[in-house]
Amino acid sequence: MHYLPIYKVEPGMVLGRDMYDFTNQVLLRRGKILTERLIRRLQEYGYQGVYVDDEFSKDLEIEELLTMEMRTKALMSIKELDVDGARDVAKEIVDKILRSESVSLDMIDLRSFDDYTYYHSVNVAVLATIVGMGMGYSVDDLKALCMAGMFHDIGKQSIPPEILNKPGSLTAEEFEVIKQHPQKSYDFLSDKWEITSNIKMGVLCHHENEDGTGYPLGITGDRIHPFAKILHVVDVYDALSSKRPYKKAYARSEALEYLMGGSMSMFSAEVINVFMRYVPIYPKGMGVILSDGREGIICGNNKASSLRPRVRITDGTEVDLMDVERYSTLTILKQHDEEALTAEEIEKIEQERKSLNDELKPR
Ligand SMILES: [Fe+2]
Repeated sequence: MHYLPIYKVEPGMVLGRDMYDFTNQVLLRRGKILTERLIRRLQEYGYQGVYVDDEFSKDLEIEELLTMEMRTKALMSIKELDVDGARDVAKEIVDKILRSESVSLDMIDLRSFDDYTYYHSVNVAVLATIVGMGMGYSVDDLKALCMAGMFHDIGKQSIPPEILNKPGSLTAEEFEVIKQHPQKSYDFLSDKWEITSNIKMGVLCHHENEDGTGYPLGITGDRIHPFAKILHVVDVYDALSSKRPYKKAYARSEALEYLMGGSMSMFSAEVINVFMRYVPIYPKGMGVILSDGREGIICGNNKASSLRPRVRITDGTEVDLMDVERYSTLTILKQHDEEALTAEEIEKIEQERKSLNDELKPR
């Protein structure tokens, strides 16, 4: 199977994965032949893309890291601030990540805008756990880190949605309101004795920068809790690579570039290094265009570099971008992701990197 953004899906294509509605009921089963009406229905449900089965990619199985059930359980635990539920699901997530041979993540965005903060929090929890695993954390620390990821933005529940989802720039006053959310998240958790202090500190400091320009405390790297350093990186990565009412999704490679630009000043260089080794930037099944113009899909990732995966070209040949002797000059030019950025937009990202801008403001 492979992934296609919804605008590329055509009638007659075969669905590669079960699709669910908002209540976790199966909307369409794998194997269903898509019609114009069904494609429209998926769009109405907010799906930005689907997996399809075809001859070209029929041997390519993509294992879901989180089952829909786990994801829903995590979402509900966050929403209801259910600490016991969150602890159970954190254990499941950690077990699953530690058992996965290669972290071939299904990080392609199949979600709608509804409940963005909660979906985002689940992604942050999963990504943080992967990075924590790469850093050699113990199982107990991984579970705590995973819970910190789940609850890091819980304080946004008390921020007016018209500020959280405002299209366009925030006023200085609005940004001040947004900046209160780590403290509010901490306050939500402070009287919960079952939540350990490392979870609380990770949550409180997830917007602190290495150079002391972050918030709410403005502390520098040596004083920032290690959990918070991880959460900061994966939070920004997931936020940038998600589509929001006020911005397009950045391609994951561009989001990574962004992180690298902020390495040392905003983010811990160590965390960025581990992130790059363990989080697949080009998920299996994603369509890409190579720098020589050939098109293909990602058929595997390489541990040594998330930026040099294996690509199956449309003529059936396979290119391993780690084979530098043969493919030293070949790179991935573009992902077939929804709304890839134009050259002007990429240029704009470069400019924006120089100053803390709206895109990096927490939502
Ligand atoms: Fe945040």
